[in-house]
Amino acid sequence: MPVIAVIGAQWGDEGKGKVVDLLAEKAGVVARFSGGDNAGHTVINPYGEFRLHLIPSGIFYPYTVAIIGNGVVINPAVLLDEIAQLNQCGVNTTRLFISDRAHLIMPYHILLDRLEEESRAGKAIGTTGKGIGPAFADKAARLGIRIGDLLDKETFLERLRFILDYKNTILTKIYGASPLSLDEVYAQYCQYGERLAARIRETDIMLEEALNRDELVILEGAQGTLLDPDFGTYPYTTSSSPLASSGCLGAGISPTRISRILGVFKAYCTRVGSGPLPTELKDETGDLIRERGHEYGTTTGRPRRCGWFDTVVARLSTRINGFTGAAITRLDVLNALPRLKICVGYRLNGKSVDYFPSNITTLEKCQPIYEELEGWQAPISDIRQYEQLPAQARQYIARLEELISCPVNIISVGARREQTIIKTPVI
Ligand code: GDP
Ligand code: IMO
Ligand code: MG
Repeated sequence: MPVIAVIGAQWGDEGKGKVVDLLAEKAGVVARFSGGDNAGHTVINPYGEFRLHLIPSGIFYPYTVAIIGNGVVINPAVLLDEIAQLNQCGVNTTRLFISDRAHLIMPYHILLDRLEEESRAGKAIGTTGKGIGPAFADKAARLGIRIGDLLDKETFLERLRFILDYKNTILTKIYGASPLSLDEVYAQYCQYGERLAARIRETDIMLEEALNRDELVILEGAQGTLLDPDFGTYPYTTSSSPLASSGCLGAGISPTRISRILGVFKAYCTRVGSGPLPTELKDETGDLIRERGHEYGTTTGRPRRCGWFDTVVARLSTRINGFTGAAITRLDVLNALPRLKICVGYRLNGKSVDYFPSNITTLEKCQPIYEELEGWQAPISDIRQYEQLPAQARQYIARLEELISCPVNIISVGARREQTIIKTPVI
């Protein structure tokens, strides 16, 4: 059985949660491998409507094991809340496991996220405020605390004492903030450790065993390619890599194991937070897409900026991730529009370019070059067969396939699990 990576192809919120919930029916394991609770994955299925921040969207099937991989940073309070909410809705969470190597989000990470944003003033990144950047920075600086550390209280205390002393110096001397109490943080995190202990495992070994049993494994991406610190709109990015290649590292499997990489694209573009969005619509069409698509952040509730589909972006993410197929979501949101635009290149200093510049100052000078297509102006959310889509909708999909050189496997026409057209099967 293959390993399928499901990857955000734009700026996040493409509908990865919906797609994973759909594909997970046949999966032995679904694993998150990057990000933290900055992610918000919406799943609407027979159990209800859920916004998952840390728990993989495959948790709803009775035999599927859900893994939070080593590449994720975990706020234990958020995780425990999420487990409780799922249990309340009758979802069995006994098959949820956490890598002992996953780093913890500590209270000082959340404080520092806010203080660093405030100090950026007009240049704030617009982070989710969940402590993600500071937690990944500490991982790289070898100042992190891993969830497995909570299982040995003495060693944990020693490490926390050393790190908290350093963090309190930064909080008080640089930001003039109050220091955190060692006793309080220690007691709180020991309690989290006790409550999560039974779930903390060497999950890379569990994955290896699942692969040896020939089970389908899904790697559930978080964020989107353009939020990648290397290939995204740096510095307006997140702090861990959302790319397919990070799926191996963040779950602990070999690159040779991944056999399918599904890019999840919205039928247009959105972005929440600051930074370039070349096809942004600051007009009534942008407002219409936002209102019809309820484009407000799953994690923070902030309005999402909306724009036309950008094939320069899509080609970059197809190339860098190696997509073997695409899922196009939210096609129904475009139902009312008489004309649709697709960005096919940029105009930069009087010349046309077809690549995505690495530098945001250059990117901000890029003017999209558009191709126009006719809209379908008809409801499509009840359609389940590709052939039954209006001709204009099929033309739109076919043109995207052509421009990004990637076959479309899945078309999503509504938020619910069943509101899906399988154009060609993923496996
Ligand atoms: P993720 O972070 O990639 O999992 O995406 P989010 O859950 O943050 O945002 C996607 C939003 O689109 C959610 O509100 C979904 O319920 C919704 N959604 C997903 N697919 C479709 C679709 O095909 N049509 C519509 N109208 N909504 C969709
Ligand atoms: P999912 O998995 C959309 C954005 C934030 C901000 C930038 C940095 O739901 O697609 P961070 O808190 O990560 O330091 O914020 O990244 N961002 C997301 N935008 N979807 C997400 O996740 C995001 N996770 C982070 O808005 O611009
Ligand atoms: Mg989201």
